[in-house]
Amino acid sequence: MQNDLHEANRLSWNAATAAHNSHKGDQGAFLRNGGSTLYPEEIELLGDLAGLDLLHLQCNSGQDSLSLVRLGAKVTGVDISDEAIAFATRLSSESGIAATFERADLFHWFEGARARGAVFDRVFASYGTICWLSDLGLWARGIASVLKPGGRFALIEFHPFAMVFDETWTPRYDYAPREPVCEAGVGDYVAASGAGLAPNGYEQGVVDFRNPHPSFEFNWGIADVVQALIDAGLKIEHFREYPYANGWVGFEGMRDSGGGRMLPPETMPGIPLMYAIAATKPETTAPVRARSEPIIRPYRAEDRDRLAAIWLSASRIGHPFLGEERLLTQLEMVRDTYLPMADNWVAEVDGRPAGFIGLIDSFVGGLFVDPEIHGAGIGRGLIEHAAARLGHLDVSVYADNASAVEFYRRRGFVETGRQETDDEGLPFAVIHMSRAS
Ligand SMILES: C[S@@+](CC[C@H](N)C(=O)[O-])C[C@H]1O[C@@H](n2cnc3c(N)ncnc32)[C@H](O)[C@@H]1O
Repeated sequence: MQNDLHEANRLSWNAATAAHNSHKGDQGAFLRNGGSTLYPEEIELLGDLAGLDLLHLQCNSGQDSLSLVRLGAKVTGVDISDEAIAFATRLSSESGIAATFERADLFHWFEGARARGAVFDRVFASYGTICWLSDLGLWARGIASVLKPGGRFALIEFHPFAMVFDETWTPRYDYAPREPVCEAGVGDYVAASGAGLAPNGYEQGVVDFRNPHPSFEFNWGIADVVQALIDAGLKIEHFREYPYANGWVGFEGMRDSGGGRMLPPETMPGIPLMYAIAATKPETTAPVRARSEPIIRPYRAEDRDRLAAIWLSASRIGHPFLGEERLLTQLEMVRDTYLPMADNWVAEVDGRPAGFIGLIDSFVGGLFVDPEIHGAGIGRGLIEHAAARLGHLDVSVYADNASAVEFYRRRGFVETGRQETDDEGLPFAVIHMSRAS
């Protein structure tokens, strides 16, 4: 995941969201009076929502989330933008429609949700979401991890084939480029689309919006999306392409064929402008397995950022009691001091680091596995590899990290001592454990 680019996008979305809402009039009254911002395509894709727990990914200002509540769902909306979530929360109270809105980077949110065991019957994302996400594998595995068995994920998105063209329909961009595309910032596409994206009636609002913050897009191809969902263990049950885009005037000369279904100019051949996918989580899911067996190899300098990212996501789950601020401070020390200093060994899966062990003589300074591939035997493999090289091993584990304590017990470690504070003197008990040669 490219956190820095996600953060840049947060600033860009904050600015754009305020401009977008300036065109939409009194949205509280619109929803209160029974208005809905949903299109028939997503309503059909989601099916009956009565009484279901629904997670709305990248919900922006919550108009669609609140419209989904109207269809009977209990909705939690997540978005990275402060402005969008503040607006959504206000809109919920102004419209009298209850929903929960949480501001977070989606990937951090998935980690937190997994840690507290939050699960949903439906997960939904629509219209301009995945192009903001730097890692589709993480996205799909995050969705699978918060779906109840038998639950369904529904996605309706703009078609990546259309993203090959610039606004004048000139082919200009690669299909599904591997690198993020830097743009001048999220634009005021609501102003460009008029009533199509302002069902309450378009108001002039902010004129000539210029976003001061650049943005970074990841234009995933259809195969990227489909394969990520399959790899996450979801079963794709529905896939459809549409020759129109709902509400969005992204290109010159688009015309409304009725109900906000925007078609290319008549002179153009028909092309797909949207697609929809529905995928379910099987009732009994085999754990998501790495596609190849882990290879254990010595650390290389270029592993540093990836290992630091694994350290942070695993620590957020194993050591949440330390708090986000302290974890971020420790992250710098891990990346800049501990990793270059320790005797590190990396478990690589599918050509990518998936976990590592850092040793100082026979002391296990750290053993961290990407939470996305937990259960694939990577931690066990790293410990056994270290034991085969060194024989005797020692480790110190936070007492509150019960699953780590249990992991070491199962690997033959026994408790040799305990202290009531950690190495920094913080009031978190630490258990010392050893395993004989
Ligand atoms: C085009 S909007 C989606 C519109 C949405 N379908 C709706 O109901 O209005 C894209 C949203 O993705 C959010 N976003 C971008 N990157 C994100 C991330 N890493 N995590 C969570 N939300 C993100 C943006 O803040 C923005 O609100």
